[in-house]
Amino acid sequence: MYCVRNVTDDIYWIGANDHRTHLFENIHPIPQGVSYNCYVLLDEKTAMFDTIEWGQGRQMMSNLEHVLDGRDLDYLVVNHLEPDHAASTGLILSRYPNVKVISSEKCFMLMHQFGFDVDAHEQIQVKEGDTFSFGKHTVTFVEAPMVHWPEVMVTFDLTEGVLFSADAFGGFIANDGKLWSTDVDWKANNLDEIRRYHCNIVGKYGPHVQLLLGKAATILDKIKIVCPLHGLIYHADDDLMTYIDKLNHWSSYTPEEKGVLIAYASMYGNTESAAQALASAICEKGFTNVKVCDISETHVSYLIADVFKYSHLVLASPTYNLNIYPVMENFLNEMRMLNMQNRHVAIIENGSWAITSGDLMQEFLEDEMKDMTVMNERISIASSLSGDKKRDVDDMAQAIIDSMEEVTCDPAKRFEKKQH
Ligand code: FEO
Repeated sequence: MYCVRNVTDDIYWIGANDHRTHLFENIHPIPQGVSYNCYVLLDEKTAMFDTIEWGQGRQMMSNLEHVLDGRDLDYLVVNHLEPDHAASTGLILSRYPNVKVISSEKCFMLMHQFGFDVDAHEQIQVKEGDTFSFGKHTVTFVEAPMVHWPEVMVTFDLTEGVLFSADAFGGFIANDGKLWSTDVDWKANNLDEIRRYHCNIVGKYGPHVQLLLGKAATILDKIKIVCPLHGLIYHADDDLMTYIDKLNHWSSYTPEEKGVLIAYASMYGNTESAAQALASAICEKGFTNVKVCDISETHVSYLIADVFKYSHLVLASPTYNLNIYPVMENFLNEMRMLNMQNRHVAIIENGSWAITSGDLMQEFLEDEMKDMTVMNERISIASSLSGDKKRDVDDMAQAIIDSMEEVTCDPAKRFEKKQH
């Protein structure tokens, strides 16, 4: 059975929702699923914008055939070749032998690498600023390299102001019938999963996202609808401005909120106890935007999302084989790989002999990452937090609260600060 929704009179969403895949990219849990969005335009010519993940290909074909209603597919525009969108390209090429493929030079290269028989089809290679008309609708192409792969472009329909934005403006959570941001209370119910999607998938490429936002800003008054490849689609209203504001924060590594993520690893509960004591001390002083996570229990993608959200991070780790506890080391590595920067970090270390985790974490933060402020206050625990450490806990709590003054949650001010 087909399952489609109108975006405009001429443009249809023909994607699918996936609740069967448990790990997106075989890494990130998606307990609420994910949608793969693709779109079709009915004009004098017919055009499809991207395809879909392989497992949902049958649904996509059913949707497409319903919308085409007997017409041939004239063009396939490929904005992004990652297989969660392009794996079903082969289905389209074989079902529609006359279809012409429009894409970037790098994307055609990747099509060959992934084994698509694109040489049997006319290939129209486009670059930044090129335009193409399907009849009433004329589109222009905007290069968006590394948002999220190097071949990425976005396509802007000049006629109706529809931006096909590839991975940008995406999010986890299957749409399940809802399509527009206004169909749901997305700021309350979807934002955490949108953040987790963006920061883990595209977080590393902040400067590239900033470039794309800069390009979008020049045509912002012309953008009426944003159609990403995952998640909800947005009218040019407050919702879109909210998403742009979030993107601006994430891609500039500016915290969204003054707040504290206390991420602890604990073998027998003693480091956990210190993490909880610190959380209580901070809250007791009146600052309550504090989140505590056991990193052995929390998938690292959730931790990454919270690091992008909050201004402050407390890392609490036992010493393990004279090293950082492995799950903490993994968390640090993930932050480094995703280019995380511009955070205040406090350290709690634990060890029953030869405590090394604190020094090693500090070394990692200072040598392997950029612009991380490691606070002077450190809590060092010999096996368990003794009563005489209460002063250290209070000092760290107070130092964290005091340092909130040094933090800006305004991306523009962050860049001003950097320029001076
Ligand atoms: Fe949703 Fe980069 O693919």
